[in-house]
Amino acid sequence: MSLYQHFKGTGPSGFGYGSTAEQVTEGLSLQGKTVLVTGCNSGLGLEAMRVLALRGARVLGTARTLEKAKAACVSVGGQAVPFACELSDPSSVRACVEAVRRGGHRLDALICNAGVMALARREQAFGVELQLFTNHVGHFILVNGLLDRLAEAGRVVVLSSHAHNMAPKAGILFDDLGAERSYTPWGHYGQSKLANLLFAKELSRRFSGTRKTANAVHPGVIMSNLWRHMPGIASFAMGLAGPLLLKSVAQGAATGVYVAIHPGAAATTGAYFADCNLARPRADADDPALARRLWEVTEEIVAGLPAAR
Ligand SMILES: NC(=O)c1ccc[n+]([C@@H]2O[C@H](COP(=O)([O-])OP(=O)(O)OC[C@H]3O[C@@H](n4cnc5c(N)ncnc54)[C@H](OP(=O)(O)O)[C@@H]3O)[C@@H](O)[C@H]2O)c1
Repeated sequence: MSLYQHFKGTGPSGFGYGSTAEQVTEGLSLQGKTVLVTGCNSGLGLEAMRVLALRGARVLGTARTLEKAKAACVSVGGQAVPFACELSDPSSVRACVEAVRRGGHRLDALICNAGVMALARREQAFGVELQLFTNHVGHFILVNGLLDRLAEAGRVVVLSSHAHNMAPKAGILFDDLGAERSYTPWGHYGQSKLANLLFAKELSRRFSGTRKTANAVHPGVIMSNLWRHMPGIASFAMGLAGPLLLKSVAQGAATGVYVAIHPGAAATTGAYFADCNLARPRADADDPALARRLWEVTEEIVAGLPAAR
């Protein structure tokens, strides 16, 4: 909760910058609904899981390890079912897909929330820059593995970020996906968040003719564990900015939860949300040709990964 929220109103959805996940679900019964949330052990994912479970949903919570997922699920109470899903390890993602399928779960929403930000040094998974692999490729494998488990009007929500604006001017660096030529922590985080937006866009196009939706969201800026890779001085500055400018975790979880479950977002697809309302991403995030190319290139990356164990 910050001073800034007092200068921001609500938008057409009736919610806005200051809304919390509890507020956007107030009065909704989610009994009988099942929602999968990745990165359920921390920050926005943990809060989303808590609030969805509070409203009666069954939440499938994924974390890098089963232990982390179990601890998070126990902490929120309600119907929360833990799964391991290390997004930078395709065999872990595939095992998660299989476990969810074995459980016979039908998904009303899938919130691709987990993410890593601004790694200080270039790291790779299977030759792909690690933020792009974790934030985009890992979720691509997960979502595609569960598409036929999505309910008739199921929703896929991908946590992107305003930081998609920091992606290179050229958009996705298809000729340097491993960041071999150059690496910048924010540029490559931005690229992964632009990829999140483009993934939702192309998935929405593939859903056309159905009642399924796919959207991307910017949750706001929230002091969470996401900032752990920042230099100490930046964390200090964030700590100072918090009371003035930043959202609380409860507010940060609101937009993803709103788009995943609120009736007001049921018919919107291929869009970008911020503060629980439609927002405008940078121009190339709306480029269908770029979205399609990223999808095809990601399929090639996935096809080249070691076969499932
Ligand atoms: N916080 C912000 O200011 C902000 C702003 C814009 C967008 N976002 C987006 O919001 C989402 C949630 O962020 P947050 O603030 O809640 O961050 P957080 O507290 O750090 O939570 C991130 C979650 O992702 C998980 N994760 C990280 N790497 C993973 C991997 N390789 N495999 C599986 N899970 C992994 C983390 O697990 P561990 O705890 O085990 O590492 C954690 O559960 C992210 O996608 C982020 O990009 C956040």
